[in-house]
Amino acid sequence: MEKEFNKIIFFGAGNIAQAIMLGLLEAKTSSTKLLAINKNPMHDVFLRKHAIKKIFPKDLGKLNHPNNILLLAVKPKDINIAVDQLRFSGYEGTVCSLAAGVSLRKISQLLGSDSVVRAMPTTASAFGLGTTGIYSDKARGQKTKLIKKLFDKIGVTLILKKEKDMHDFTAVVGSGQAFLMQLLKEYERGLASLADQKKNKAIIKNLLRSLFLQFEMYGFEKAIKKIASKKGTTEAGLVTLHKLGGNKMLNETFKATKIRSQEIENEFK
Ligand SMILES: NC(=O)c1ccc[n+]([C@@H]2O[C@H](COP(=O)([O-])OP(=O)(O)OC[C@H]3O[C@@H](n4cnc5c(N)ncnc54)[C@H](OP(=O)(O)O)[C@@H]3O)[C@@H](O)[C@H]2O)c1
Repeated sequence: MEKEFNKIIFFGAGNIAQAIMLGLLEAKTSSTKLLAINKNPMHDVFLRKHAIKKIFPKDLGKLNHPNNILLLAVKPKDINIAVDQLRFSGYEGTVCSLAAGVSLRKISQLLGSDSVVRAMPTTASAFGLGTTGIYSDKARGQKTKLIKKLFDKIGVTLILKKEKDMHDFTAVVGSGQAFLMQLLKEYERGLASLADQKKNKAIIKNLLRSLFLQFEMYGFEKAIKKIASKKGTTEAGLVTLHKLGGNKMLNETFKATKIRSQEIENEFK
C-alpha cells in the first residue's frame, strides 16, 4: 500500500504555502497535520485562524518521521538562509522545494542531502484546482510518490521527465494563468461602459464557467468555429487578432517568463 503523509511542514507561510494549506484543509486534511515556520508576523493571523501550529527551525530535529514532508516555500533570494537553518536543525525527512528556478542540484548541495524533490504548484491549489509539476531524479522513488500524493489532493499533478521542463511548466502553467487574467481585464474594461459592477461580475462569472463547458464539450478549436460564423463579426475580429499577432504575443510572453526562470537558475547555481 502507498504511504500516506504524516505531517506537512511549511518552511515559509506566504502566498503559495497558504494556498496549499487552504486546499489541504478543504480536502479534509486535519489542521493537526500541518505545521509552519514563518518569519513574517503578518501570516500569524492566517495560521491562528486555521489552527495551524507555528513552529521554529529548532523544532525540526524532532520531526524526523519518514513520512513527514517539508515544503520549502521561500523566495529564491531567501533559500540560502532557509536551507542553512534547515541543515542545522537536524531534520532528515523529505524536502520538497517550491522555489522557481532553483535547481535540484543546488538545493541538494546546500542541504547536503539527496532527499530533495522539486514541485511547482499553482495558487488555484487553494480551491483544489491546482496544477503541480513535480521533478525528482528518482521519479519512481517513495519520496516522489509521497509528494505526488500530497499534491494530488489539491489538483492535477504532472511528473516532469527532465528538470529543464520545469522552466516551460513555470512559464505556461505557473505564470500563464496570470497572463490570461491580465487579458481578461480588457474584457472587463470593455464591459464597464455597458453595465453596472454587479452585472459585470455576473457576466464574467458566466463567461468563465461557459469557457470550461465549451472546452469540455468541443475543445478550443471547434468552440471558436461555432462562435465565428462566415463573414461575421467574430471572424472580422479574429482576422485583426491574428494580424496583430495575438498568439505570437502570448508565446513571446511565455518565452520571456522561461528566460527569467533560466536566469534565476543561473543566479542560484
Ligand atoms: N506564488 C506562487 O504562485 C508560487 C507558485 C509556485 C512556486 N512559488 C515559489 O514559492 C516560493 C514562495 O513564493 P511566495 O509567493 O509564497 O512568496 P512569499 O509570499 O514571499 O512567501 C514566502 C514567505 O517565506 C518567509 N520566509 C523567508 N525566509 C524565511 C525563513 N528563513 N524562515 C521563515 N520564513 C521565511 C517570507 O517572509 P518575509 O515576508 O518576511 O520575507 C515570506 O513570508 C518562491 O520560491 C516561489 O518561486 C510561488
